[in-house]
Amino acid sequence: MRNWKKVVGLFVAVVALGSVAAFAAPKTWVVGFSQIGSESEWRTADTISVQNAFNDDPSFILIYSDAQQKQENQIKAIRSFIARRVNAILFTALVETGYGPVLQEAKNAGIPVVMIDRDVQASDRGLRLTIMGSDFIKEGEKAGTWLATYLQKQGIDDGTKPIDIVELQGTTGSAPAIDRKTGFANIMKQHPNWQITRSQTGNFTSAEGKAVMEAFLKADQHIQVLYAHNDQMALGAIQAIKEAGLRPGKDIIIVSVDGVKGAFDAMVAGELNASIECSPLLGPQAVQALRDLRDGQKLPGRIWTIEGIFDQTNAAAALPSRQY
Ligand code: AHR
Repeated sequence: MRNWKKVVGLFVAVVALGSVAAFAAPKTWVVGFSQIGSESEWRTADTISVQNAFNDDPSFILIYSDAQQKQENQIKAIRSFIARRVNAILFTALVETGYGPVLQEAKNAGIPVVMIDRDVQASDRGLRLTIMGSDFIKEGEKAGTWLATYLQKQGIDDGTKPIDIVELQGTTGSAPAIDRKTGFANIMKQHPNWQITRSQTGNFTSAEGKAVMEAFLKADQHIQVLYAHNDQMALGAIQAIKEAGLRPGKDIIIVSVDGVKGAFDAMVAGELNASIECSPLLGPQAVQALRDLRDGQKLPGRIWTIEGIFDQTNAAAALPSRQY
Protein backbone atom coordinates (compact mmCIF):
# COMPACT_ATOMS: atom_id res chain seq x y z
CA MET A 1 0.00 0.00 0.00
CA ARG A 2 2.82 2.39 1.04
CA ASN A 3 4.63 1.64 -2.27
CA TRP A 4 1.46 2.27 -4.26
CA LYS A 5 1.09 5.73 -2.60
CA LYS A 6 4.75 6.53 -3.38
CA VAL A 7 4.23 5.69 -7.08
CA VAL A 8 1.15 7.94 -7.31
CA GLY A 9 3.03 10.74 -5.50
CA LEU A 10 5.95 10.44 -7.89
CA PHE A 11 3.61 10.45 -10.90
CA VAL A 12 1.88 13.66 -9.67
CA ALA A 13 5.25 15.34 -9.09
CA VAL A 14 6.50 14.42 -12.58
CA VAL A 15 3.31 15.71 -14.26
CA ALA A 16 3.48 18.95 -12.25
CA LEU A 17 7.14 19.50 -13.10
CA GLY A 18 6.45 18.71 -16.75
CA SER A 19 3.73 21.32 -17.01
CA VAL A 20 5.90 23.92 -15.25
CA ALA A 21 8.64 23.19 -17.80
CA ALA A 22 6.16 23.39 -20.68
CA PHE A 23 5.00 26.85 -19.60
CA ALA A 24 8.33 28.13 -18.26
CA ALA A 25 9.49 31.39 -19.80
CA PRO A 26 12.27 30.89 -22.36
CA LYS A 27 15.77 31.79 -21.27
CA THR A 28 16.47 35.49 -21.91
CA TRP A 29 18.93 35.98 -24.77
CA VAL A 30 21.11 39.03 -25.23
CA VAL A 31 21.64 39.77 -28.94
CA GLY A 32 24.12 42.26 -30.38
CA PHE A 33 23.09 43.88 -33.68
CA SER A 34 25.72 45.59 -35.83
CA GLN A 35 23.91 47.77 -38.39
CA ILE A 36 25.82 49.61 -41.13
CA GLY A 37 24.24 53.08 -40.78
CA SER A 38 21.27 55.03 -42.06
CA GLU A 39 22.10 55.84 -45.68
CA SER A 40 18.61 55.34 -47.09
CA GLU A 41 14.86 55.18 -46.38
CA TRP A 42 15.31 51.44 -46.80
CA ARG A 43 17.94 51.22 -44.06
CA THR A 44 15.82 53.23 -41.63
CA ALA A 45 12.88 50.89 -42.22
CA ASP A 46 15.16 47.89 -41.72
CA THR A 47 16.54 49.18 -38.39
CA ILE A 48 13.05 50.00 -37.09
CA SER A 49 11.75 46.58 -38.16
CA VAL A 50 14.52 44.78 -36.24
CA GLN A 51 14.24 46.99 -33.14
CA ASN A 52 10.44 46.68 -32.99
CA ALA A 53 10.47 42.92 -33.45
CA PHE A 54 12.96 42.45 -30.57
CA ASN A 55 11.13 44.97 -28.35
CA ASP A 56 7.95 42.95 -28.85
CA ASP A 57 9.57 39.82 -27.41
CA PRO A 58 10.62 40.33 -23.76
CA SER A 59 12.73 37.17 -23.85
CA PHE A 60 15.33 39.08 -25.90
CA ILE A 61 17.51 42.06 -25.05
CA LEU A 62 18.86 43.78 -28.18
CA ILE A 63 22.09 45.78 -28.07
CA TYR A 64 22.05 48.02 -31.15
CA SER A 65 25.18 49.48 -32.71
CA ASP A 66 25.19 51.90 -35.67
CA ALA A 67 28.50 51.75 -37.59
CA GLN A 68 27.88 54.99 -39.49
CA GLN A 69 29.13 53.43 -42.73
CA LYS A 70 32.53 52.55 -41.24
CA GLN A 71 33.80 48.97 -41.33
CA GLU A 72 36.15 49.57 -38.38
CA ASN A 73 33.14 50.55 -36.23
CA GLN A 74 31.47 47.25 -37.09
CA ILE A 75 34.57 45.27 -36.16
CA LYS A 76 34.79 47.16 -32.83
CA ALA A 77 31.10 46.54 -32.14
CA ILE A 78 31.39 42.81 -32.81
CA ARG A 79 34.45 42.60 -30.53
CA SER A 80 32.50 44.36 -27.77
CA PHE A 81 29.59 41.92 -28.23
CA ILE A 82 32.06 39.03 -27.87
CA ALA A 83 33.55 40.62 -24.73
CA ARG A 84 30.04 40.94 -23.25
CA ARG A 85 29.43 37.28 -24.07
CA VAL A 86 26.15 37.92 -25.87
CA ASN A 87 24.12 34.86 -26.83
CA ALA A 88 24.06 35.71 -30.55
CA ILE A 89 25.17 38.40 -33.00
CA LEU A 90 23.05 39.85 -35.80
CA PHE A 91 25.21 41.41 -38.44
CA THR A 92 24.79 43.35 -41.73
CA ALA A 93 28.14 43.62 -43.52
CA LEU A 94 28.88 47.03 -45.02
CA VAL A 95 31.13 45.41 -47.64
CA GLU A 96 31.84 41.75 -48.31
CA THR A 97 35.54 41.58 -47.38
CA GLY A 98 37.57 42.22 -44.23
CA TYR A 99 35.48 40.51 -41.54
CA GLY A 100 37.17 37.08 -41.50
CA PRO A 101 39.29 37.56 -38.33
CA VAL A 102 36.47 39.02 -36.21
CA LEU A 103 34.04 36.33 -37.34
CA GLN A 104 36.64 33.74 -36.40
CA GLU A 105 36.84 35.35 -32.92
CA ALA A 106 33.06 35.04 -32.55
CA LYS A 107 33.21 31.42 -33.65
CA ASN A 108 36.04 30.67 -31.19
CA ALA A 109 33.92 32.21 -28.43
CA GLY A 110 31.01 29.94 -29.43
CA ILE A 111 28.75 32.90 -30.33
CA PRO A 112 26.54 32.25 -33.37
CA VAL A 113 26.50 35.01 -36.02
CA VAL A 114 23.35 35.44 -38.09
CA MET A 115 23.71 37.72 -41.13
CA ILE A 116 20.84 39.97 -42.02
CA ASP A 117 20.50 41.65 -45.46
CA ARG A 118 24.16 41.90 -46.63
CA ASP A 119 26.48 38.91 -46.58
CA VAL A 120 30.26 38.54 -46.31
CA GLN A 121 32.50 37.11 -49.04
CA ALA A 122 32.07 33.42 -49.93
CA SER A 123 35.32 32.33 -48.22
CA ASP A 124 34.11 33.72 -44.84
CA ARG A 125 30.60 32.24 -44.98
CA GLY A 126 31.64 29.16 -43.00
CA LEU A 127 32.19 31.49 -40.04
CA ARG A 128 28.57 32.63 -39.85
CA LEU A 129 25.52 30.49 -39.23
CA THR A 130 23.06 31.72 -41.84
CA ILE A 131 21.92 34.75 -43.85
CA MET A 132 18.42 36.10 -44.19
CA GLY A 133 17.31 38.60 -46.79
CA SER A 134 16.96 39.23 -50.49
CA ASP A 135 18.45 37.60 -53.54
CA PHE A 136 20.35 40.60 -54.94
CA ILE A 137 21.36 38.82 -58.15
CA LYS A 138 17.71 38.04 -58.85
CA GLU A 139 16.85 41.70 -58.23
CA GLY A 140 19.35 42.77 -60.91
CA GLU A 141 17.91 40.16 -63.27
CA LYS A 142 14.35 41.32 -62.55
CA ALA A 143 15.41 44.91 -63.35
CA GLY A 144 16.91 43.79 -66.66
CA THR A 145 13.93 41.63 -67.58
CA TRP A 146 11.47 44.41 -66.72
CA LEU A 147 13.48 46.80 -68.91
CA ALA A 148 13.56 44.40 -71.87
CA THR A 149 9.77 43.96 -71.79
CA TYR A 150 9.16 47.70 -71.41
CA LEU A 151 11.53 48.73 -74.22
CA GLN A 152 9.93 46.19 -76.53
CA LYS A 153 6.37 47.22 -75.66
CA GLN A 154 7.21 50.90 -76.23
CA GLY A 155 8.78 50.04 -79.59
CA ILE A 156 12.11 51.53 -78.41
CA ASP A 157 14.24 48.42 -78.80
CA ASP A 158 14.29 46.64 -82.16
CA GLY A 159 17.20 44.46 -81.06
CA THR A 160 19.69 46.17 -83.36
CA LYS A 161 19.98 49.88 -82.51
CA PRO A 162 22.15 50.57 -79.43
CA ILE A 163 20.37 51.20 -76.14
CA ASP A 164 22.49 53.52 -73.97
CA ILE A 165 22.26 52.76 -70.27
CA VAL A 166 23.93 54.52 -67.35
CA GLU A 167 24.31 52.77 -64.04
CA LEU A 168 24.40 54.14 -60.50
CA GLN A 169 26.11 51.51 -58.41
CA GLY A 170 25.68 50.99 -54.68
CA THR A 171 28.50 51.12 -52.14
CA THR A 172 31.64 49.68 -53.75
CA GLY A 173 32.37 46.17 -52.50
CA SER A 174 28.96 45.67 -50.88
CA ALA A 175 26.95 42.53 -51.63
CA PRO A 176 23.96 44.37 -53.19
CA ALA A 177 26.21 46.49 -55.45
CA ILE A 178 28.17 43.44 -56.66
CA ASP A 179 25.13 41.21 -57.11
CA ARG A 180 22.73 43.74 -58.64
CA LYS A 181 25.41 44.53 -61.24
CA THR A 182 25.90 40.83 -61.94
CA GLY A 183 22.16 40.15 -62.22
CA PHE A 184 21.60 43.00 -64.67
CA ALA A 185 24.67 41.93 -66.69
CA ASN A 186 23.18 38.41 -66.93
CA ILE A 187 20.16 39.85 -68.76
CA MET A 188 22.33 42.17 -70.89
CA LYS A 189 23.95 39.07 -72.40
CA GLN A 190 20.61 38.38 -74.12
CA HIS A 191 20.60 41.94 -75.56
CA PRO A 192 23.89 42.55 -77.36
CA ASN A 193 22.70 46.01 -78.50
CA TRP A 194 22.40 47.24 -74.88
CA GLN A 195 25.48 49.07 -73.63
CA ILE A 196 26.40 50.53 -70.26
CA THR A 197 27.97 53.81 -71.31
CA ARG A 198 28.71 55.08 -67.80
CA SER A 199 28.78 53.39 -64.42
CA GLN A 200 29.80 54.88 -61.10
CA THR A 201 29.00 54.48 -57.43
CA GLY A 202 26.45 56.76 -55.80
CA ASN A 203 27.04 55.00 -52.47
CA PHE A 204 23.31 54.19 -52.09
CA THR A 205 22.55 57.82 -51.12
CA SER A 206 20.33 60.43 -52.69
CA ALA A 207 22.97 63.20 -52.57
CA GLU A 208 25.63 61.11 -54.32
CA GLY A 209 23.12 59.69 -56.80
CA LYS A 210 22.20 63.25 -57.78
CA ALA A 211 25.81 64.44 -58.06
CA VAL A 212 26.88 61.48 -60.21
CA MET A 213 23.81 61.81 -62.46
CA GLU A 214 24.59 65.52 -62.94
CA ALA A 215 28.07 64.56 -64.12
CA PHE A 216 26.65 61.86 -66.43
CA LEU A 217 24.20 64.34 -67.97
CA LYS A 218 26.90 66.95 -68.55
CA ALA A 219 29.11 64.43 -70.34
CA ASP A 220 26.48 62.55 -72.32
CA GLN A 221 23.47 63.72 -74.37
CA HIS A 222 22.31 60.23 -75.33
CA ILE A 223 21.31 58.61 -72.08
CA GLN A 224 18.18 56.50 -72.68
CA VAL A 225 18.04 54.44 -69.50
CA LEU A 226 19.19 54.79 -65.90
CA TYR A 227 19.63 51.62 -63.86
CA ALA A 228 20.09 52.57 -60.19
CA HIS A 229 21.03 49.95 -57.59
CA ASN A 230 18.58 51.55 -55.14
CA ASP A 231 15.63 53.95 -55.08
CA GLN A 232 17.46 56.52 -52.99
CA MET A 233 20.02 57.15 -55.74
CA ALA A 234 17.27 57.08 -58.38
CA LEU A 235 15.38 59.77 -56.44
CA GLY A 236 18.50 61.94 -56.34
CA ALA A 237 19.06 61.33 -60.06
CA ILE A 238 15.45 62.33 -60.82
CA GLN A 239 16.22 65.76 -59.33
CA ALA A 240 19.34 66.05 -61.51
CA ILE A 241 17.39 65.05 -64.64
CA LYS A 242 14.69 67.65 -63.92
CA GLU A 243 17.27 70.35 -63.25
CA ALA A 244 18.84 69.50 -66.62
CA GLY A 245 15.48 70.28 -68.25
CA LEU A 246 14.63 66.66 -69.07
CA ARG A 247 11.63 64.55 -68.07
CA PRO A 248 12.54 61.61 -65.79
CA GLY A 249 10.52 58.52 -66.65
CA LYS A 250 9.97 59.78 -70.21
CA ASP A 251 13.16 61.21 -71.73
CA ILE A 252 15.16 58.84 -69.55
CA ILE A 253 13.66 55.52 -68.48
CA ILE A 254 14.53 54.74 -64.87
CA VAL A 255 14.51 51.38 -63.12
CA SER A 256 15.77 50.94 -59.58
CA VAL A 257 15.58 48.59 -56.60
CA ASP A 258 13.92 48.66 -53.13
CA GLY A 259 10.26 49.74 -53.44
CA VAL A 260 10.39 52.48 -50.76
CA LYS A 261 7.49 54.92 -50.41
CA GLY A 262 9.44 57.73 -52.14
CA ALA A 263 9.81 55.46 -55.18
CA PHE A 264 6.08 54.72 -55.20
CA ASP A 265 5.32 58.45 -55.13
CA ALA A 266 7.75 58.93 -58.03
CA MET A 267 6.12 56.09 -60.02
CA VAL A 268 2.65 57.54 -59.41
CA ALA A 269 3.99 60.94 -60.60
CA GLY A 270 5.33 59.22 -63.75
CA GLU A 271 8.96 60.08 -62.92
CA LEU A 272 10.24 56.60 -62.07
CA ASN A 273 9.37 53.68 -64.32
CA ALA A 274 9.90 50.65 -62.10
CA SER A 275 11.22 49.58 -58.73
CA ILE A 276 12.16 46.01 -57.94
CA GLU A 277 11.11 45.20 -54.39
CA CYS A 278 13.75 44.49 -51.75
CA SER A 279 12.04 44.20 -48.39
CA PRO A 280 13.72 45.75 -45.33
CA LEU A 281 11.12 44.26 -42.97
CA LEU A 282 13.46 41.59 -41.69
CA GLY A 283 12.85 42.00 -37.95
CA PRO A 284 10.17 39.31 -37.46
CA GLN A 285 12.23 36.82 -39.50
CA ALA A 286 15.32 37.60 -37.39
CA VAL A 287 13.48 37.11 -34.09
CA GLN A 288 11.99 33.82 -35.30
CA ALA A 289 15.40 32.53 -36.40
CA LEU A 290 16.91 33.34 -33.00
CA ARG A 291 13.98 31.73 -31.17
CA ASP A 292 14.52 28.57 -33.23
CA LEU A 293 18.23 28.67 -32.48
CA ARG A 294 17.58 29.07 -28.75
CA ASP A 295 15.20 26.10 -28.92
CA GLY A 296 18.03 24.01 -30.31
CA GLN A 297 16.74 23.85 -33.89
CA LYS A 298 19.09 23.81 -36.87
CA LEU A 299 18.69 26.93 -39.04
CA PRO A 300 18.67 26.62 -42.84
CA GLY A 301 21.83 27.96 -44.52
CA ARG A 302 19.79 30.62 -46.35
CA ILE A 303 16.51 32.30 -45.41
CA TRP A 304 15.03 34.08 -48.43
CA THR A 305 12.62 37.01 -48.49
CA ILE A 306 9.77 36.88 -51.04
CA GLU A 307 9.45 40.08 -53.11
CA GLY A 308 7.59 41.62 -56.06
CA ILE A 309 8.03 44.08 -58.94
CA PHE A 310 6.25 47.45 -59.16
CA ASP A 311 5.88 49.89 -62.03
CA GLN A 312 3.50 52.62 -63.18
CA THR A 313 0.78 50.03 -63.88
CA ASN A 314 0.41 48.83 -60.27
CA ALA A 315 2.16 51.43 -58.05
CA ALA A 316 -0.93 53.56 -57.23
CA ALA A 317 -2.96 50.51 -56.15
CA ALA A 318 -0.14 49.20 -53.94
CA LEU A 319 0.88 52.55 -52.39
CA PRO A 320 -1.72 52.69 -49.54
CA SER A 321 -0.63 49.31 -48.18
CA ARG A 322 3.12 49.89 -48.33
CA GLN A 323 4.75 49.67 -44.91
CA TYR A 324 8.06 51.37 -45.75
O1 AHR B 1 21.50 46.17 -48.54
C1 AHR B 1 20.30 46.63 -49.03
C2 AHR B 1 20.51 47.94 -49.71
O2 AHR B 1 21.15 48.84 -48.84
C3 AHR B 1 19.24 48.65 -50.14
O3 AHR B 1 18.89 48.38 -51.45
C4 AHR B 1 19.69 50.06 -50.07
O4 AHR B 1 18.68 51.01 -50.16
C5 AHR B 1 20.46 50.06 -48.82
O5 AHR B 1 21.25 51.15 -48.64
